[in-house]
Amino acid sequence: MTIFLRRAVTITLLALALDSVTPGARADEPASYVGGEVCSGCHAREAESWKGSHHALAMQKASAATVLGDFSDTRVEHFGAVTTFLRSGDKFMVRTDGPDGALHDYEIAYTFGVYPLQQYLIAMPGGRLQALGIAWDSRPKEGGGQRWFPLYPSTRTRTYRRATGCTGPSMTRPGTTCAPTAIRPI
Ligand code: HEC
Repeated sequence: MTIFLRRAVTITLLALALDSVTPGARADEPASYVGGEVCSGCHAREAESWKGSHHALAMQKASAATVLGDFSDTRVEHFGAVTTFLRSGDKFMVRTDGPDGALHDYEIAYTFGVYPLQQYLIAMPGGRLQALGIAWDSRPKEGGGQRWFPLYPSTRTRTYRRATGCTGPSMTRPGTTCAPTAIRPI
């Protein structure tokens, strides 16, 4: 079988397969999130090696179990602007400049990655998730880790300001600026 024919067969099978496991899902309906369990039914071996891997931990709801960074009122100064990582009850928060240039408290919605760094996503209007410009170095202290660091050390831009420029070319830089549309709030 040629690779194209094989791919066509694969796609057809996949479409049939998904149709049977998500009743009512049709090709002309917008795609929606189904969750990994749907896949593991047919791809048990892949699911097994995925479990416990860094990929499985790539994006998790922020909680005491998933957040690695220091949120004990930790201040990070970058180009004279201060970002503070803090707690509010069970929530993990960041105090940083908003689109209006003033300081606001934003709740951390998701963690992004685990090692050697962990980034944090805050929820934006319209289902968008914004990655902060300051990330946590999750390596051991002896290896220079266990500290916050700016993803763009030589740029003034830190966090939200870049988010407001989501239409600009910077949004294509993976992992650091906008993470729009591809990720739906779960
Ligand atoms: C009902 C069974 C079934 C379910 C459920 C299922 N798949 Fe598959 N999947 C298949 C079959 C059959 C193939 C074709 C295998 C081949 O071409 O050798 C396939 C192929 C694939 C391929 C292509 C592999 C390649 O070599 O090109 C990917 C990627 C994939 N599946 C991912 C997923 C994901 C992600 C999910 C869950 C959202 C999922 N599958 C759910 C049966 C299933």
